[in-house]
Amino acid sequence: MVWVVCLAMAGIGLRLQGGGGGGARKERLGKYSPYAAERQLTTLEEPEEGGKVGALFGLCNLATQNMVEGKLQLYEGDFELISTCLNDITPEEFGFPPSRDDGKPIIDYVDIFEEKNFTACMFKIPAGSRLPMHDHPGMYVWSKVLWGEMEVSSYDRETAQATPRDKSFPSLPSQALDLRPFKVKTKRDREVWRSEDGVKITTPTEGNIHEFRAVTTCCFVDVIMPPYDFMQGRRCTYYEINDREDGTWARPIRCPADYVTRSLKYIGETVETIEG
Ligand SMILES: [Fe+2]
Repeated sequence: MVWVVCLAMAGIGLRLQGGGGGGARKERLGKYSPYAAERQLTTLEEPEEGGKVGALFGLCNLATQNMVEGKLQLYEGDFELISTCLNDITPEEFGFPPSRDDGKPIIDYVDIFEEKNFTACMFKIPAGSRLPMHDHPGMYVWSKVLWGEMEVSSYDRETAQATPRDKSFPSLPSQALDLRPFKVKTKRDREVWRSEDGVKITTPTEGNIHEFRAVTTCCFVDVIMPPYDFMQGRRCTYYEINDREDGTWARPIRCPADYVTRSLKYIGETVETIEG
């Protein structure tokens, strides 16, 4: 197959800085020949060295290079590139085929890689369990079911919220304390996601408040940029959705007491860096 890679600059050799604990080992990701002085799309053969997970890591790094003060400047092509790459990675390459499920009724969490500007993680949810309604303020999320089926309900704010780092955004303490309910509209109502449905994208304004409920035991990957960062105004809030006469409301709540995860070690393909 042909990999489609978006290159940022000519003559660059990227050395990705290691970061974040618990992520995959980072080594070397083959050599991409940069083509143009300006960011543009090009096509390259599949890298000889480094696997697809490493390529995903490299794409995320390129996509977040224009991040300023926590604000992303993603190009149209970034969405498709990351989706294409993520869609092509198998459960085996991520180190979580169905055979890894030990059958215990607990949600497993695996940190695939974790960097300052992006992260990737994996969840296995036992049938009947759920990731409670939560949000990703100011963040983009690429989600891909690796196996199994899950039901997704998601909501959008009815009125736009100031995004983190906007000049108009209130100071952090104000933001952190702003737990008022707000009106939402339904984006997805118990939509079933399977592996063959491919990658689903959450944006800061579309589907950002969502709940994943396992129809069968299932496993999915989230690629997230930028990551949660309380000090940058990106904290995870949990919600209760209330249908009322005057509309649908999202009410911030504490993390549900029954939501417990178990961290497992990442054993998939290693993540490798690009060197010129
Ligand atoms: Fe989420």
